[in-house]
This record gives sequence, C-alpha cells and structure tokens, in this order.
Amino acid sequence: MEIKEINNRYSELAESECCLSCGGAINYAEPKLGEVCVDLGSGRGTDVLRMAESVGETGYVYGIDISDGMLEKARKNAEKFKVKNVEFIRCELEKLELNDNQADLVISNCTLNHADNKQAVWNEIYRILKKGGRFIVSDIYATKPIAEEYRTDPVAIAECWAGAVTRSEYMQQLEKAGFATIEIIEESKPYAKGKAEVASFTIAGKKAKSCGCGCK
Ligand SMILES: C[S@@+](CC[C@H](N)C(=O)[O-])C[C@H]1O[C@@H](n2cnc3c(N)ncnc32)[C@H](O)[C@@H]1O
Repeated sequence: MEIKEINNRYSELAESECCLSCGGAINYAEPKLGEVCVDLGSGRGTDVLRMAESVGETGYVYGIDISDGMLEKARKNAEKFKVKNVEFIRCELEKLELNDNQADLVISNCTLNHADNKQAVWNEIYRILKKGGRFIVSDIYATKPIAEEYRTDPVAIAECWAGAVTRSEYMQQLEKAGFATIEIIEESKPYAKGKAEVASFTIAGKKAKSCGCGCK
C-alpha cells in the first residue's frame, strides 16, 4: 500500500526538475577510485552518476529505488552520459538485493524516512557495508512523535514527513544496527512540513574494522 503510493508519487516527479533532497550527503561522501558505492533511494540517478565518475572504471555504483518512473529516468541518464559502471536495482530498502560486506560507501538523501521498518533498513546498511565501510545519510526527523492518525497514512509518508521518527529514536536504531559512533555533519533548525514539525540532518558513521573480540 505504502510502496504503491511512493511509486505513484515519485514516478510523477521523475520528469520534474524539483529538488528532492534534504541535505548534502553527496558533498561529504568523497567516493574514492575503485570503491563500491550504494545510493539508497537513488531517484533520477544524479548522485549515482557523480559517484561513478569518482570511483572510475575499477569502481562500481548501485542505485536502489522502488519507483518505476525514477528507475527509468536514472537508467536513461546513465545511457545518455554513457556511464557503464552503474546499476539501478528495483528493491525495497528493507531487503537490499546486495551481498554482505559488499560496499565501501552507502549514501542516501531524504529517503530513509519513507521506510516502514527503519530498523530493518539500518540493519541492511550494516550488513552490506564492508568492515571499515562508511555511510553518509541526509534525512529528516520529527521534533516530536508524529500523531497516530498520520503515521500510517501512505500519502503523508510519501510526502516525506509522516514516516519521520524522533531524533532519539533515530539514534537508537543506528546503535542497535551496530554503528557505535555517529557524527552529525549538518543539522537544520526545526521547520513545519505537512502537519508536523521536522528537522533535517546529515549524519555519518562507520562499520567497525573488527568486532573487538580479536577476530579479523
Ligand atoms: C525524496 S526522493 C529522493 C531522491 C534522491 N535521493 C534525491 O536526493 O534527489 C526519495 C526516493 O526514495 C525512493 N523510495 C522511497 N521509499 C523507498 C523504499 N521503501 N524502497 C526503495 N526506494 C524508496 C523514492 O522512490 C524516491 O525516488
């Protein structure tokens, strides 16, 4: 139900020029030559194409999205600019069709707030990152819990506000997934969105190089 609404909304927006991001994740990501990168909620594919240039022929970038319109636009853009080292995959954030320990870098911009099960998404980010791999995520959080009547409203979720959790809930999910230290790179003042008050932030974290038990 929710996915259908997201697919509809974003397929309509795929051909528009409107900005869909809520922070500068890509500007802090610094993808390196040869790295494997993933963009969750890749939309029209702009950030995927930027990362593809940075990682070069020896690297690879995956864009993940659930909207058919966005995926079509992103694939056309890759073709137009003759970018070969990218793949756009249609799957849900909670069930990424990527291998364990595959990515050096995961980015996402204004997408995780849509996910039904955000804990599962953070668990997936942890799973696909290599040891020592990093994430940079721009997203929104709610300054207080979203009213029950909107929390499951698929239209309000697709509009990027009703799916938002509070800042402390957000941090708990990250910690539970296994990310020990989180850096807040940028954070906005609270602002009104839909029927809620939200704020945007860009956060970064790393999967530890070892689990601390002496194993490799
Ligand atoms: C606000 S747009 C952001 C697009 C892009 N990151 C940008 O900054 O321009 C959110 C994107 O996430 C995708 N999306 C939302 N929920 C999703 C889900 N559960 N699984 C996969 N993709 C999802 C939407 O289709 C849409 O393309």
